[in-house]
Amino acid sequence: MGMKVLVTGGLGFIGSNFIRRALAETKDEIVNLDAETYAGNPENLADLLPHPRYRFLRGDISDPETVRQAMKGVQAVAHFAAETHVDRSILDPEAFLKTNVLGTHVLLEEARRRAGEIKRFLHISTDEVYGPVLRGKSSEDAPFRPTSPYAASKAAADHLATAYHKTYGLPVVIARPSNNFGPYQYPEKALPLMITNWSEGKPFPLYGDGGQVRNWIYVHDCVRALDLILRKGSPGRSYNVGGSVLLRNRDLVLKMRKVMGIPKSLVRQVPDRPGHDRRYALDSRALSKLGYRPASDPASDFDRALRETAAWYQSRRSWWRPLKQSPVFSAYYREQYAEKTKEAAAR
Ligand code: NAD
Ligand code: DAU
Repeated sequence: MGMKVLVTGGLGFIGSNFIRRALAETKDEIVNLDAETYAGNPENLADLLPHPRYRFLRGDISDPETVRQAMKGVQAVAHFAAETHVDRSILDPEAFLKTNVLGTHVLLEEARRRAGEIKRFLHISTDEVYGPVLRGKSSEDAPFRPTSPYAASKAAADHLATAYHKTYGLPVVIARPSNNFGPYQYPEKALPLMITNWSEGKPFPLYGDGGQVRNWIYVHDCVRALDLILRKGSPGRSYNVGGSVLLRNRDLVLKMRKVMGIPKSLVRQVPDRPGHDRRYALDSRALSKLGYRPASDPASDFDRALRETAAWYQSRRSWWRPLKQSPVFSAYYREQYAEKTKEAAAR
């Protein structure tokens, strides 16, 4: 017997991959509550709308009445909904506080009101809560040192989720994934931006010296780990979900240039992101102890995953072209680069 799971933010990148897997590999019934922000794309799950175990609700997690309706009869919550792009949080943090902090609070409150009915509340946090880790790896008890408004809002939400376990006994489990890549990622994020810009013959803007290190995980591995944490995680515990690949941005660019046969001239160095975290690295041993084994994560499979990802975007122009052509996308880029040019001139 499956559970009835409320997924928030299921039209986004990781949420839509999570739902696809859940409908294919579990017996769970899924209710997807998503506000359809610029990042929430109905196309991501359009083919699943007729599925008998899937229901879509358009709505905002920061509205208590919407959340009350959405949580009816639910046994578990998988909370993905968030404003997620660090550069946008630097330009305008307000939406990040509203959705990531207040929205999370509304969900936790409704779950508390339904004490006993909600058996698991999976809160999706991020490795960015730890801030930059110059050496070694962050374990789950490492202090929080968020730097961007995005990371600070996610740190606040993470603390709130823990507080609801400690204070009210809500069966909260927390996942802190590292940088995901794969299909259905909105093309403002580094990897899909790189692939789609190159597919259009445009350069990829590499921030600063490109020496920042990210811990990459294929989204298919991540959603398997999240499902395991949802089912088997100990209430009150947090689990890092890190890929085994640590890579500098400029090395990722090099790998992708090889995969796609792209000349150096299509990489443009641009001024750095303000407060850009130098390195993230997660210690994911707690997840391994829970029984997680990566299917495609070891370094040998990383190149294959990158090739699959490039091929997915290359064959799905009809998915990403309208997103990149939309006024939302171009307005964001105008603002982002006007800001960067100002900062560079001031230095
Ligand atoms: P995304 O930006 O692709 O999707 C976010 C989704 O949330 C969208 O469908 C959007 O419409 C929805 N949403 C936003 N505000 C909402 C609101 N107020 N009410 C209802 N729905 C709303 O995000 P993603 O990259 O899939 O990330 C999902 C979660 O995982 C986030 O919590 C993010 O912080 C976390 N995370 C992401 C990564 C990554 O590499 N992408 C890594 C670690 C953690
Ligand atoms: O670490 C987990 C986080 O990963 C998630 O919590 C966030 O929601 C998600 O957006 C992602 O944040 P990053 O800032 O790491 O991802 P992004 O794809 O924006 O950038 C990856 C790296 O590439 C980062 O060091 C900045 C750099 N970059 C990014 C863009 C968009 C560039 O050099 N050029 C770019 O144009």
